[in-house]
Amino acid sequence: MTKLLVLPENLPADLIGPQARARWCCEQLETGNILFFPQTPFEIPAEDVELFLRQRQSGAGYHKNIAYDPVQDRLRGQAERESAPIARLRAAMRGYSERAVCFASELLAPYSPSWRVDLTSFRPQQEDGRALRLHARNDLLHVDSFPGRPANGDRILRLFTNINPQEPRVWITSETFDALVSHYAGLPGLPPPQRISRWRQAVSAGARAVGLRHWARSPYDRWMLRLHHFLKENADFQRNTPRCRWEFSPHSTWLVFTDMVSHAVLRGQFALEQTFIVSRDSLVTPETAPVRILERLAGGPLTVD
Ligand SMILES: [Fe+2]
Repeated sequence: MTKLLVLPENLPADLIGPQARARWCCEQLETGNILFFPQTPFEIPAEDVELFLRQRQSGAGYHKNIAYDPVQDRLRGQAERESAPIARLRAAMRGYSERAVCFASELLAPYSPSWRVDLTSFRPQQEDGRALRLHARNDLLHVDSFPGRPANGDRILRLFTNINPQEPRVWITSETFDALVSHYAGLPGLPPPQRISRWRQAVSAGARAVGLRHWARSPYDRWMLRLHHFLKENADFQRNTPRCRWEFSPHSTWLVFTDMVSHAVLRGQFALEQTFIVSRDSLVTPETAPVRILERLAGGPLTVD
């Protein structure tokens, strides 16, 4: 089960130097724990927080998220057209992303030389009571898998900040990936992963080369997406699995591998988040990675070259 490690209090006293501390932090995340900072350890200017808190209804409904692509420096989707003032909002998202990346680069130094800085998001809606289709619901326990951005065995690391000045963000977590696999892989609706065949390897490699994302999706990505759906569809799991409840207080920040930790958001409004795709080659305990667990089960590779 996932533990919440409060930093810096929970850092072992015998860790000497930044390298040992960074390795310890990576190890904790890779084994399914959450690193929690009661006070966000980097600055978010007050005027940016005010701007975020003013982002409300737009058009016929609320945005699910406002997403920002730090690589292209642009807001994505309808936020680019409808959220005003655009340039100001983009600058605030850029500022959060840059500071979050800078902070995490030092905290998790083994990852940063090879990670891909993925999207930044702002979540302006109250999570409690949202009407979403089943597979999009945040209040059902799941592990993350991005249908449009295949990870191919690399890891989904997320850094969240609760900028709500009064309300905590409330999560539940349940078993970590290794336990989920041992309980559920092979049940009806979740066949075990199948190692990649040679022809499939060739098709996927070709598809990746020309940017055809659907065909480039590896057996690993297909299985992770199937697990995501299986867990959300499984009423018995949602009702009866053991769980822990966490309250992330206002102004706090936390980091977690969301492809390892099963999680759900019960309530909370106004969170910022930065996603990183961490190379599986940079992990400090690679044997605990979901791709390794699944490849042991499948008896062969699940990723494409
Ligand atoms: Fe999630």
